[in-house]
Amino acid sequence: MSAGRTPLVVVGGGVAGLSVALAAAPRPVLLLARGADGEGSASALAQGGIAAAVGAGDTAAAHVRDTIVAGAGHNETFAVRYLATQAPRAIARLQALGLQFDHDGGRLRLGREGGHHADRIVHAGGDASGARLVAALAKAVRDAGHVEVRSGVAVDALLLRGSGVAGVRVRDGRGDAALVEAANVVLATGGIGGLFAASTNPAGATGSGLALGLAAGARGRDLEFMQFHPTALALDRANDAGPLPLVTEALRGAGARLLDGQGRPLMAGLHPLGDLAPRDLVARRVWQVLQQGDRVWLDATHLGDAWPTHFPTVHAACRAHGIDPAREPIPVTPAAHFHMGGLATDRDGRTGVHGLHAVGEVACNGVHGANRLASNSLLEGLVYGHRLGRRMATRSLPRASRGAHAWTSLGPAADGHARQRLRTLLWSALGPVRNGRDLRAARQHLHDDAAAYGWHGRLAMQLLDAALARGASLGAHYRSDASGS
Ligand code: SIN
Repeated sequence: MSAGRTPLVVVGGGVAGLSVALAAAPRPVLLLARGADGEGSASALAQGGIAAAVGAGDTAAAHVRDTIVAGAGHNETFAVRYLATQAPRAIARLQALGLQFDHDGGRLRLGREGGHHADRIVHAGGDASGARLVAALAKAVRDAGHVEVRSGVAVDALLLRGSGVAGVRVRDGRGDAALVEAANVVLATGGIGGLFAASTNPAGATGSGLALGLAAGARGRDLEFMQFHPTALALDRANDAGPLPLVTEALRGAGARLLDGQGRPLMAGLHPLGDLAPRDLVARRVWQVLQQGDRVWLDATHLGDAWPTHFPTVHAACRAHGIDPAREPIPVTPAAHFHMGGLATDRDGRTGVHGLHAVGEVACNGVHGANRLASNSLLEGLVYGHRLGRRMATRSLPRASRGAHAWTSLGPAADGHARQRLRTLLWSALGPVRNGRDLRAARQHLHDDAAAYGWHGRLAMQLLDAALARGASLGAHYRSDASGS
């Protein structure tokens, strides 16, 4: 194992990690990422865009209200206010980097998604927004003199000293390990969707940063709150751990309708916002209809010739599976999409472990409450990543703690078969509709076969424990056995 020294280590090459790295200038940063230029991150797959109150008559206060209503009031109000008021500045910073947002007649084109009472979603390249955003940030990072990027690597252990972090163990594609000493580490490793059988997240999003942080003594928060997107492309692909293509909510914002197998409107009479009701409600409705053995379709045939230009990503995914969305409805299923819970942090990304920070989906500062509002996730990575980077740039960084060194490592992972079993287990027990009996049975199963499931199983048990501890339904955590459900 070779040793190197660097003042600030950022783990994760999605929007949050890239934003921290950029904003930390002039402080030297080592950015460690699995893929080059954000490849393999959930950010690059995002279709929905970035929410910002930049339209005529819209206000940050209205954005705050919608965020808190979607979050079932479980949000940290202060964190939400900061997110919404900083959103227009985040857009302006991206424009200054050269990112071209979609326009209509000289004005930003503003879309609408579930839970929003105003048109406030900006896109770049239609539903290719995440990919364009990641490309713009990655280029800025490449051009920045203060960031060294090392891609094709994973972090599988933290070196602790006394009560603080002292370094990370980096493993390359050949499995060779190297120690990078650092008294300041930012985890921006994304979410856990890859632990579920149906997911829109990259297969690698299995919570390694969350598991490492928890093992190092950081506190978890709101771990039971997993968001399920109502509309992923329903593909029959047993044993394939890859993501299901997302069928963006912006389609419903553009007039697409959810229908049951008999062609009846799925959300009729269930919520004043109909097809654009908050995501947890729509996902549960789709789930329940599918559980009854019916199909669910998204009909966006009215878009006709606009399909390839306005929604190129969904259009290409449909065509790749023999569906022509301009002529026929799209089969959809809910899928694990975003983890509201994570490592508990303050708004400066500090976990309780000295020098260990977390930001983006791996973190939980309470901004999303019990259910994230659509298009607030890229925004969170941009706003809180920038904030953390600026803190790192302008404040003296915490020094390494004193004391003995000790490694905290993930240890063995679940192998391919066990990982597939785990994904099926969590999808049925910890999916859009949960109950105590199934949660307990899933936990017992993982406990009894702990060696097979490795660190993935330990993390899954922590998620199940959190879901068991919250006996009542709230936001995306829905217990069918709770009174009043
Ligand atoms: C979508 O495009 O429907 C997803 C947007 C988001 O997750 O915020």
